[in-house]
Amino acid sequence: ITLHIEDLKGETRAITVSPEGSLMEAIRDNGFEDLLAACGGCCSCATCHVVIDPASVLPLPAMAADEDSLLDGSDHRQESSRLSCQIPLSSELDGLKLRIAEAD
Ligand code: FES
Repeated sequence: ITLHIEDLKGETRAITVSPEGSLMEAIRDNGFEDLLAACGGCCSCATCHVVIDPASVLPLPAMAADEDSLLDGSDHRQESSRLSCQIPLSSELDGLKLRIAEAD
């Protein structure tokens, strides 16, 4: 699947990955150093914050309460903010567009 990722400099790069693991792992493992993902994916750090392009209407999993409350702690939360470690990749996410959110 192909993901379109914008970094903090505003540069967008497309990556092609197999639909396994999490969205966070796909971003981190493809050289986007702006995504810190400090806790390694256990939903406790919020440094894997991304903003999904609102035009990217793809079936994302519902947000759990812990993800929601971590995002509430961010000054940069947007309507379509998500923690990328909480989104498993699947073939349905082909073409997803997002940007890495500013760190708090
Ligand atoms: Fe820490 Fe996602 S990597 S909350």
